[in-house]
Amino acid sequence: METAPATLEKIVSLAKRRGFIFPGSEIYGGLAGTFDYGHYGLALKKNIEALWWRMFVDSRDDMYGVDADILMNPKAWEASGHVAGFSDPLVECADCKKRFRADHLEDPNVCPSCGKKGTIGAARQFNMMFKTQAGATEDEASTVYLRPETAGGIFVNFKNTVDAFHPKLPFGIAQIGKAFRNEIAPRDFIFRVRELEQMEIEYFVRPGEWEEAFEAWRVQMHAFAEAIGLPQGMLHELEVAPEDRAHYSKRTIDFEFDYPFGRKELWGLAYRTDFDLSAHQAASGQSLQFLDEGAQEKLIPHVIEPSFGVGRTLLAILASAYREDELGGEARTYLALSPKVAPVKAMVSPLLKNKPELVAKAKEVRKELQKVHPAIAWDDNGNIGKRYRRQDEIGTPFCITVDFDTLGETPELKDTVTLRHRDTGEQERLSIADAAERIREAIA
Ligand code: GAP
Repeated sequence: METAPATLEKIVSLAKRRGFIFPGSEIYGGLAGTFDYGHYGLALKKNIEALWWRMFVDSRDDMYGVDADILMNPKAWEASGHVAGFSDPLVECADCKKRFRADHLEDPNVCPSCGKKGTIGAARQFNMMFKTQAGATEDEASTVYLRPETAGGIFVNFKNTVDAFHPKLPFGIAQIGKAFRNEIAPRDFIFRVRELEQMEIEYFVRPGEWEEAFEAWRVQMHAFAEAIGLPQGMLHELEVAPEDRAHYSKRTIDFEFDYPFGRKELWGLAYRTDFDLSAHQAASGQSLQFLDEGAQEKLIPHVIEPSFGVGRTLLAILASAYREDELGGEARTYLALSPKVAPVKAMVSPLLKNKPELVAKAKEVRKELQKVHPAIAWDDNGNIGKRYRRQDEIGTPFCITVDFDTLGETPELKDTVTLRHRDTGEQERLSIADAAERIREAIA
């Protein structure tokens, strides 16, 4: 089977055409760095988040969830170092006045927009936090920030979580939510955006046990990649050099992915030491010490932080699943999505839409399969080949057709259906109960 490499253009086009992702506020010409998720993109995103939550929170006894507000007391961002240091180097071309991230320029002497030489000015630090005003007054005192990382909402709830649940070390707090960054140059579709979603864990450990926890989370991050169907061969670890690490980190591994536009950061794993809790303790005046009953001492726990961008994960899934081939003499495009994340788990279809008895039976079959998973689509539009193609493009693993044999035309085939496999186009005849079992096994 021939497959063509995914280009970003092809992915962007499929994402829009099939209702995964649209440019933000498109009817007004869009807004740089913003994208809106359509029905299937949203389903894919929710499936990724649900798997993450199940794997890292629900299946464990040492994890607690939190859903903090995006708006936080600005003192929290002063304490965390983001007001002073969450910035990228910004340069401007003296000729065309366009602005760029200095570290993204191919040649620091040539403007990538107008092509002039020697017009790029000196770099200055540009703070990436979005500022807004809380309340009716518009002065410095009312300035608040849209959180630049979900981690902040976790750290300010460390004490609340400890007081409410009395956890023992090590334990973690997890959060999925929006974060905002005024990126100088949003680019590569949903790879670098200004409004992003993160799935983050702050895992609190005894200071002497950070290396062990770091290693365990490194392994867990690979396990998550496997669970969502990312090919391990496209995932690479990069030990981040000290000068490139965030201000809070003493060790960082970037999990990089082979995107169509090159090998780029997908997720991060950082050792944040006690930097954040100590800083929040000093700035808030509240004790964030933890009574470690095992060791009978009070301490500020150290932190391992696995951080996952939802959009980058979704893009990696789309890029690695995109396929073009020829089936039955016709070119087709399909997404080889893991059934676990696929927006639709199966499609049910009557062979002919103008035969009421077929339609009624197919509806009955769909209802039966929806007991396994609700995301079972219905399609009776156009010929069966077209229905298959539509499902292939959104990555539906199985298409199930109800025909006259299902109704008992051939008595020994009564209550059997055909089940077509997305990747090979192969079909098998099996009982409705076995079709349900196939779906159950695939999404387990
Ligand atoms: N709390 C740690 C933190 O925020 P980060 O490396 O700045 O670390 C974590 O971001 C993850 O968030 C990245 O690995 C990436 O998946 C995602 N991310 C960061 N900036 C992004 C952006 N502008 N657009 C999309 N995803 C982004």
